[in-house]
Amino acid sequence: MGVIPGRPELFFPRIDGSTRLVGVMGWPVSHSRSPAMHNAAFAALGLNYVYVPLPVPPSEVATSVRALRGLGFAGVNVTVPHKAAVLPLLDVLTPIAAAIASVNTIVVRADGTLLGDSTDGAGFLEDLRAHGCEPAGRSILLLGAGGAAKAVAYALAGCGATLAVANRTRERADELCRLVLAALPSARITAHPFPDGLARLAVRADLVVNATSLGLHVDRDPLPWDPAVSFRPGQIVYDLVYSPGTGGKASLPTPFLRLAGEAGAQAIDGLGMLVYQGARAFELWTGQQAPVEVMRAAVGRN
Ligand SMILES: NC(=O)c1ccc[n+]([C@@H]2O[C@H](COP(=O)([O-])OP(=O)(O)OC[C@H]3O[C@@H](n4cnc5c(N)ncnc54)[C@H](OP(=O)(O)O)[C@@H]3O)[C@@H](O)[C@H]2O)c1
Repeated sequence: MGVIPGRPELFFPRIDGSTRLVGVMGWPVSHSRSPAMHNAAFAALGLNYVYVPLPVPPSEVATSVRALRGLGFAGVNVTVPHKAAVLPLLDVLTPIAAAIASVNTIVVRADGTLLGDSTDGAGFLEDLRAHGCEPAGRSILLLGAGGAAKAVAYALAGCGATLAVANRTRERADELCRLVLAALPSARITAHPFPDGLARLAVRADLVVNATSLGLHVDRDPLPWDPAVSFRPGQIVYDLVYSPGTGGKASLPTPFLRLAGEAGAQAIDGLGMLVYQGARAFELWTGQQAPVEVMRAAVGRN
């Protein structure tokens, strides 16, 4: 295993006739931190695997997924815009993947069948708990109703939290609630418009989660929040958006988290979720416990 001087995140894995392949399938994928994260984990455990970017345009998704078995892949991650498109190409879905109609991890099983899972919700929960927050019995305001919001909503509803989902397009919040209730009929979940009524929803919330895509582009994105509505000490504010440059520790990377931190709330960025969702995928492919701190260091220092 070699390293480029000055770029410790770039590994030269040993590749031989027994190397197992995994990767990330998306369009584009050049921004992905997952190759650095997983290759560091394989190196740390001495596993003969390599993780590669797989830039697959939408027109090639079906051909590419069907080729995984023949090419000997152990599995892949799936990212935007293919998370829903791969569903009909798989043999088995985990309950969460079926419930939210989204897959971020494919496993090629020993019998050649393809299993689809969504590890985002479990990754979110694990990181939340690592920060000392048990969501059971909490009142939670979830902003957004896209793919990531669905995974988080299903995970939180399954823990017995009470959820208010606020989204710019109200119909998508309604649809998210329908999906969660179809899978978990006793879930406590309601849909709301965004940003109307934010002040009322914020007052009740122990935990506020930004699962919109706002915050990635700090220079041009509006806040996923109304700055006239205050956060408060004791409140937990979680942003799925992460800035790998900070390692999630040294500073609060998004304006949303900065606002929360300034008001005395506990602010958490999405780096830990990235690491834990990746760790779940790693364990599904290799059957080995993921070296979480190695993975965190690999994404945190880029
Ligand atoms: N940390 C992690 O491991 C992790 C994992 C997965 C995703 N993520 C992050 O989570 C975020 C969401 O991802 P996704 O896949 O769910 O995206 P998505 O499916 O495209 O959903 C985007 C969401 O953002 C909302 N939105 C976009 N522009 C908006 C605006 N100008 N005002 C108000 N709302 C707006 C959309 O509302 P409408 O419905 O009204 O369009 C929708 O609810 C991304 O930043 C992604 O990087 C992080």
